[in-house]
Amino acid sequence: MEPVRSAIIGGGFIGHVHARAVLANAGRLVTVYDAKPEVSQALVSTLRADRVVASYESVLADADVNLVHVCTPNHLHFPMAMAAIDAGKHVICEKPLAVTSDEARALRDAADAAGVVAAVPFVYRFYASIRDARARVTGNELGDLRLLHGHYLQDWLLGESDNNWRVEPQLGGASRAFGDIGVHWCDLLEFVSGQRIARLNARAATTQRRKNAAGELVDVATEDLVSFIFETESGVVGNAVVSQVSAGRPNEVVLNIDGARSAISFNQMMPDSLWIGARAQNSIVWRGTSAASTAAGVRQHPQRTPPGLPGRLQLLLPRRLPRHPRRECRRSAHL
Ligand SMILES: NC(=O)c1ccc[n+]([C@@H]2O[C@H](COP(=O)([O-])OP(=O)(O)OC[C@H]3O[C@@H](n4cnc5c(N)ncnc54)[C@H](O)[C@@H]3O)[C@@H](O)[C@H]2O)c1
Repeated sequence: MEPVRSAIIGGGFIGHVHARAVLANAGRLVTVYDAKPEVSQALVSTLRADRVVASYESVLADADVNLVHVCTPNHLHFPMAMAAIDAGKHVICEKPLAVTSDEARALRDAADAAGVVAAVPFVYRFYASIRDARARVTGNELGDLRLLHGHYLQDWLLGESDNNWRVEPQLGGASRAFGDIGVHWCDLLEFVSGQRIARLNARAATTQRRKNAAGELVDVATEDLVSFIFETESGVVGNAVVSQVSAGRPNEVVLNIDGARSAISFNQMMPDSLWIGARAQNSIVWRGTSAASTAAGVRQHPQRTPPGLPGRLQLLLPRRLPRHPRRECRRSAHL
């Protein structure tokens, strides 16, 4: 085993999150590479990465880098992740892993054959309340599972001026709402319930026309919402709604699992709590209380994300300090 030495590819929204995660986990940030040199430069300075590079090829040729984080738009996931695997790097590739199932399978097979670590950040798995929910299902607290249901709703593409590369199929892939956030919901459902979705029937809809860069209204080729019913391999039925045009829902992931004895409900807008439903009495289990299953604490360090405190607490310290601090600085440090 060797320490993590990361290169972040794509320095946008999630690239920042990856870079901070590397530092928070005592990894080394070797470089950040973005197609826009000013973005690479700004991130390398802000996050104090070791160096700026001018191309993805330079990242792959850099012997210091042992882990590549692919944080670019979806159509680049397959070529970039495959090139990183070919170069013998470990890879964390953002979701959706690829824009077609064939590409995703090819990546899985290549990573297996190369023996590299390959991961997709389905981050909702790491909420303590989700771990708690999973432990309750695994421990048969709910009894036989009867119904799986929920939704993933956002509203950031509601307006006709709202736009993003995800809307364009050649950048985001043929599916947008499902490929972008539906994959999170399905992963969470399968992770918590232990069930695999085997069959489904879906209806997708595009509800909006959007303004292009010139301000003209144009047709949108990717779906805004998907409503689907499904059945798992062992015959449990369910349904879900995925939407990026639901007003007032900034990022609402709700997962409900109804069993023969009791039910659980997780809502990402209140991630420190898990609702437990029963005929006699309902209750809410808060993270950090003794009622929360011990499994809940496995992945979330109380020091890093204390229960009841919103957001993540991060303190970034400078990597280098002056070798000869001025006398008055030294004095104030002792005070
Ligand atoms: N796991 C999660 O919860 C989560 C959350 C948000 C986004 N994502 C995924 O992360 C990826 C990026 O999303 P985002 O919201 O950060 O997008 P973004 O638009 O904020 O950032 C994308 C960045 O990639 C850069 N880029 C484009 N082409 C490039 C190239 N050829 N080489 C290098 N850099 C290039 C862009 O300049 C931009 O800075 C998407 O696949 C998205 O699905 C995952």
